[in-house]
Amino acid sequence: MAVTEERAEARYRLPRGAVPTRYDLVLEPDLEAGAFRGSEGIALEIREPLDELVLNAAELEIDGGELVAADGTTVPVIEVRLDAETQRAHLRLGRSLGPGPATLHLDFRGALNDRMRGFYRSRYRDAEGVERIIATTQFEPTDARRAFPCFDEPDLKAAFGVTLVVPEGLLAISNEREVAREPTGDGRVRIRFADTIPMSTYLVAFVVGPLEATEPVDVDGVPLRVVHAPGKGHLTAFALEVGAFALRFFADYYGIPYPGSKLDMVAIPDFAQGAMENLGCITYREVAILVDPGAATQAELQGVADTVTHEIAHMWFGDLVTMRWWNGIWLNEAFATFMELLCVDAFRPEWDRWALHARSRSVAFEFDALATTRPIEYPVRSPEDANGMFDVLTYVKGASVLRMLERYLGPERFREGIRRYLREHAYGNTETSDLWDALEAVSGEPVRTVMDSWVWQGGYPLVSCSARDGEVLLEQRRFRLDGVEDPTRWYVPLLVRHGAASSDPMEPVLVPPEGAGVGHPRGAPVVVNAGGHAFVRVRYDAELRRRLTERLGELAPIERYQLVDDAWAATVAGAENAAAFLGLARAFGDETDLPVWQALLLGLGWCERALQGEARERFRAFVRDLVRPALDRLGWEPGEGEGDVRRALRGALFGALGTLGADPEAIERAREIEAAARAGDGVDAALAAAAVQVLAVHGGPAEWEVFRRAAREARTPQEHLRYLFALPEFREPEAFASALEIALTDEVRPQDLPHYLARGLANRDRGPEAWALVRERWEEIMGRVAPSAAIYLAYGLRGLTDPAVVEDVQAFFAEHDIPQSALQLRQILESQRIHAAFVARAATELGRDLGDAG
Ligand code: BES
Ligand code: ZN
Repeated sequence: MAVTEERAEARYRLPRGAVPTRYDLVLEPDLEAGAFRGSEGIALEIREPLDELVLNAAELEIDGGELVAADGTTVPVIEVRLDAETQRAHLRLGRSLGPGPATLHLDFRGALNDRMRGFYRSRYRDAEGVERIIATTQFEPTDARRAFPCFDEPDLKAAFGVTLVVPEGLLAISNEREVAREPTGDGRVRIRFADTIPMSTYLVAFVVGPLEATEPVDVDGVPLRVVHAPGKGHLTAFALEVGAFALRFFADYYGIPYPGSKLDMVAIPDFAQGAMENLGCITYREVAILVDPGAATQAELQGVADTVTHEIAHMWFGDLVTMRWWNGIWLNEAFATFMELLCVDAFRPEWDRWALHARSRSVAFEFDALATTRPIEYPVRSPEDANGMFDVLTYVKGASVLRMLERYLGPERFREGIRRYLREHAYGNTETSDLWDALEAVSGEPVRTVMDSWVWQGGYPLVSCSARDGEVLLEQRRFRLDGVEDPTRWYVPLLVRHGAASSDPMEPVLVPPEGAGVGHPRGAPVVVNAGGHAFVRVRYDAELRRRLTERLGELAPIERYQLVDDAWAATVAGAENAAAFLGLARAFGDETDLPVWQALLLGLGWCERALQGEARERFRAFVRDLVRPALDRLGWEPGEGEGDVRRALRGALFGALGTLGADPEAIERAREIEAAARAGDGVDAALAAAAVQVLAVHGGPAEWEVFRRAAREARTPQEHLRYLFALPEFREPEAFASALEIALTDEVRPQDLPHYLARGLANRDRGPEAWALVRERWEEIMGRVAPSAAIYLAYGLRGLTDPAVVEDVQAFFAEHDIPQSALQLRQILESQRIHAAFVARAATELGRDLGDAG
């Protein structure tokens, strides 16, 4: 047993007989030919005499090399064996060497691929319509080995000295600042960059192409730039502002200076993820960094702020201190997401970022209530096992449980623990438990016990709260959408408030598995999850619920949000009648906060999917009666100097009135607004974006063609996506058919294709047609998208709730998988079944209720 374990381990971990300390890397990309050559010198510390070196390489040709010992002894590499399956190169040496320091020299070649991984090509058309090519990298988790032979494991940190040989006139950047440049005499230049700090291979980056850089902004000595395709410099100011803010915020929060000497943020036209935290050279898809604040919605601006702060947070947490192995990827991402929210909250307090976070947290709540959920952390052997960690549970549940801990410990003690952890492990690698130990040391609280219960178990508790004589009783059980009894229990760090208002007294309570009683003034309302930060749902007994509903207006928006969301979850689970949810929505008619409305509209959107014909018409009338007064109160037009969130609320209400309510006046207004926005008349962005949604729902082929052209001629990446992603949201058959026709053409970049198809699948009326396309052209689609991004397509499947289609989808995926995201796919399929059951139930429940009302 132990022996096989060890062998299995050896398949995934390189032997440690020789470990790298630095790489001198020279890369010569030929952009037109789509190829590159390279050479490297890897300084090694050889620990025991060896005659074979093993390192990672994938889809590379190694042309030979030698090993040079410190005393000058040279041993040639006499045989190179590439193992495609393990992605390793075995280098046989002329004779054995070591122990001691030595340098391995290798020459190699490879192709610049078009799959957005490793060293790859991205393209854009310039002002004359000529195609221009960029060579760029994406290495996380294990694709550095596609660009140069290396010890491609996160704990094998080394300094990287990168040199790029590139055609004159192209911009070339890497992790560190440029230190030397000389012509090669053949129209190219050799550009050398300073050594990086010791860091993991997955953080190395280089970008070469016809690109421009902004003037550097000096952020306390760190030059910060945005690098972009020509003609887009006017879209960089916001990212520079938030980037500068984040650099200062994190240097202060972490108590450690920025670990590089410069920071470039690079906008890449083709990019598989949202962004990547390469130290000093963060890469982004364009929509995540280039933005015009005057023309963007709050959500679009927040998207840029989120991404920029998230990646900059990683410069310390992830880059300076790194997980030892891929099981730690969740903490890396969860923590960066937590810091992103903290930083954006400081950057724009008026956004109330944490309240808006509740909306993405609902998605995590939903997936984590499935039978197929997973613990946040699990043992990871092969790097592929860790690919499944890049999901909503890592990012959103992970960040949320960190927030829960931070609120419970208090922000100062929490920050003290983070500082201690980073100081202790700078330039090194860690296990998850190292963080708990640091937090435990500064706080004296049982952090490890608490967090182990959240990290190593899937799911989350429903905390039931009942009034007793002079106390409230808190009990827990697991919340599951399928209603199955489940023995999992947690240590739940809660803040309990004795009173509805935020000024009422609050106390931290750690609820153990068996539950707890808390002293409480008789007759007063109690808020069990005060501040709404714990990753729990709450059920109040009838008496406590009554006390709270009387004082709804005194609760914080995030607390009201959670009341609605908990009610909605009970509805999806079948524990509550869908008609009761409409009743709850009525009770919230006076609501003025964006997140709360978002929770209501999410539920109403699902309800609408259950209804056809007459019942649907009555539902539309219900929505109009609910939403119109709220919109009238707010005003259909923005007032002078109005804040972003109020505008966003108007957009949400206006959009709902036009889509769910099919309100003729809203549809008419949408036509005017959209046309004016397209003409560049400075229309409020929230209204403009909502108008596009409304017209997709009600428009036909003529509007579709207009939108298609608008996507092509868009002035910003956000406007492009607003129109592009509206194309598969048309309900009119001919327009929708056109949307499917262009899906697999150049009109939809592969980076956008999964999201585009997801929207088609989720189309209320035409989803099955999108499914027919996906099904038929599955292989082709999988061949176009980045493997790690394929799963985004599947999220649209949850909208397919017709029983015959559900069965077809489930049968199809019994035979086809999405290799990097197998578990996520199973969760989506379970979610599809649950929503199909909800839609079936709601059709009757709502049909009856709305019938009575009408
Ligand atoms: N490290 C990730 C990028 C990544 C994700 C690389 C998956 C390889 C596989 C990066 O820090 C990240 O989390 N990016 C997010 C955006 C962020 C704002 C949440 C992304 O790409 O979606
Ligand atoms: Zn990240």
